[in-house]
Amino acid sequence: MSNSIIEFDQVVAGYTPSVTILNGTTLDARAGEITLLIGPNGAGKSTVLKTLFGMLVPRSGEVRFEGRRVNGKSQRELLAQGMAYVPQGRNLFASLSVLHNLELGGITLPRAERGPRMDEVLARFPRLLERIDNQASTLSGGEQKQLEIGRALLLRPRVLLIDEPSIGLSPRLVQEVMALLRQLADQGVTVLMVEQNVRTALKYSDRALVLEMGRLALDRPPAHLLDDPNLNRLFLGGHVPDPERLDAPMQER
Ligand SMILES: Nc1ncnc2c1ncn2[C@@H]1O[C@H](COP(=O)(O)OP(=O)(O)OP(=O)(O)O)[C@@H](O)[C@H]1O
Ligand SMILES: [Mg+2]
Repeated sequence: MSNSIIEFDQVVAGYTPSVTILNGTTLDARAGEITLLIGPNGAGKSTVLKTLFGMLVPRSGEVRFEGRRVNGKSQRELLAQGMAYVPQGRNLFASLSVLHNLELGGITLPRAERGPRMDEVLARFPRLLERIDNQASTLSGGEQKQLEIGRALLLRPRVLLIDEPSIGLSPRLVQEVMALLRQLADQGVTVLMVEQNVRTALKYSDRALVLEMGRLALDRPPAHLLDDPNLNRLFLGGHVPDPERLDAPMQER
């Protein structure tokens, strides 16, 4: 598809030679959309992001970024090509200041560009600007996530991969982070997000992909997913058992 920025074509990948986690995964993410990747624990959602970002080399199949094969490319090459990755959890240097953490995102930039890029990112995050000299550890959870996203934005990525950004955040902060991702997508950044806070994430997404046992099981507009009784049961906290569909129920929220 012409506006597919990210494509997985029959990708097989795993962490050890004997076990494959992605079992011929085929999926795509389109330009300027938020694509939400959901599925049971262990389905391989994070593995999709890690494979995209060069942390796992596919055994077979092809990963494409803007139409170009990127199997086996290094993270540095992918960053330079316009991809950014915000992993799950806290990924800041807690004892360094907001400024220093942010600067680390721009170390590959020519020196003269760093200042203007920092200004550009900080204009988006007034709270980070207010706390620019504070230790990262003193920021709230939502501010820390903003800092991680801001750091990723320093290189002006065209694609942002983000794994469970809402973990540990209050409902209000979750909304803020989602709204930020929506704003980025509306400005043309392609977002591929893994998120277990499905109901909230669906409201901000353009498309939902359901991964089961390392394969794409469903590809739906978010509204359809919210209405689908099977999906409600699997991902949105319903309880009716259905042996035909339940292989590994997700944790409930
Ligand atoms: N570094 C690793 N080494 C070996 N196995 C791993 C590694 N990381 C993940 N796995 C295994 O790969 C499978 C898929 O993991 P992955 O993290 O992609 O799942 P996920 O869909 O993101 O799950 P969750 O919702 O729990 O985050 C799991 O069985 C997991 O145990
Ligand atoms: Mg995961």
